[in-house]
Amino acid sequence: MAQAFYQNFKLGILGGGQLGRMLIQSGVDFNINFSILDPDPQAPCHQLAEFTCGKLTDYDTVMRFGQSCDLITIEIENVNTAALRDLVKQGKKVFPQPDLIELIQDKRVQKQFYKDKGIPTADFILTANKEEVLKNRSFLPAVNKLGKEGYDGKGVQLLREEKDLVKAFDAPGLLEKLINFEKEIAVIVSRNEKGEVSSFPAVEMVFHPEANLVEYLFAPAQIKTAIASEAERIAKQVIQELKLVGLLAVEMFVTKDGKVLVNEVAPRPHNSGHQTIEANITSQYEQHLRAILNLPFGNTQAVMPSAMVNVLGEDGHSGMAQYKGFEEVAAVSGVHVHLYGKKMTKPFRKMGHVTIVDTDMESLKKKAKFVKDTLKVIA
Ligand SMILES: Nc1ncnc2c1ncn2[C@@H]1O[C@H](COP(=O)(O)OP(=O)(O)O)[C@@H](O)[C@H]1O
Ligand SMILES: [Mg+2]
Repeated sequence: MAQAFYQNFKLGILGGGQLGRMLIQSGVDFNINFSILDPDPQAPCHQLAEFTCGKLTDYDTVMRFGQSCDLITIEIENVNTAALRDLVKQGKKVFPQPDLIELIQDKRVQKQFYKDKGIPTADFILTANKEEVLKNRSFLPAVNKLGKEGYDGKGVQLLREEKDLVKAFDAPGLLEKLINFEKEIAVIVSRNEKGEVSSFPAVEMVFHPEANLVEYLFAPAQIKTAIASEAERIAKQVIQELKLVGLLAVEMFVTKDGKVLVNEVAPRPHNSGHQTIEANITSQYEQHLRAILNLPFGNTQAVMPSAMVNVLGEDGHSGMAQYKGFEEVAAVSGVHVHLYGKKMTKPFRKMGHVTIVDTDMESLKKKAKFVKDTLKVIA
């Protein structure tokens, strides 16, 4: 696939957010020309590549955009897969494959896939509407999820007891057994057209209780070696069963009795792999490019332990973003600040992230806490 390095080769990305931005950053080293489609004229990628403003869910827009590219990928799942399928029919390469994007777009289909393939996952019941959730009250405590278009905890709610049933989603979704997990971890795997597979070491995520966003991430995950290898084995099994070409982030639960269950997957670079830019020999962004260009994979080994802190818009602040505490944070050894170039902030909006590397786990945790308490996005 050496044509990627020809002057006229163009890689199209559906979505121009921070993930696209970091893909571009990585692609510069491979001499890749990018073309971006995003509905927001001020998207984080708008000044970094050829940029088209348009809807990712509109057939004609995606079709027209795709026809102007040699290879098309995504940085968000909510895209028009019918157009992508037709682009493949016309001979364009689209990775990850449109059918797999579609499978992953719907948590109902995703869960059924794990069940069919014998991939460990929380027990579940598919529900078509609120009435069906009410009929399955004996399944509580459960997590009620919307099949489609949920992200960052929107579209997920806990139904602990009968009185919570009033909240049930009145749309196609599922009820999943509430897992009393010890830890949430993620393993990022990749696969190229040759069928070669590679995986990053497992990372551990700590969620913000209110916003449902990853608040801290630690790499490597502080789990037993046997659990880490089991998690990598399962993640590889998922990408191989899917035959996906590209990157796949596999979110998992580690239960109190040491079992590993798949929660959900994302077929693209992921929040849980940001730290690989500084902390691993090859970043998830470069690995994604290697996968879709059918190149050999890079070494995924961590160079040093790391932490990642999402920089979220401060609660109560909406408007032009200002960054407080940048200098104090930048002064700490091992700290690397990434700002996504979003003009406007709002409560809990992902405005950037900070990676911290340190050989000592305790010092790493202290620095991560300092970064979180010090760097603020206000309006
Ligand atoms: N079955 C479950 N048991 C316990 N917690 C869950 C379960 N499913 C999801 N969660 C919690 O809700 C969060 C968001 O759910 P997830 O399915 O990953 O949705 P999203 O698409 O919003 O990331 C998870 O990261 C986890 O903390
Ligand atoms: Mg999730």
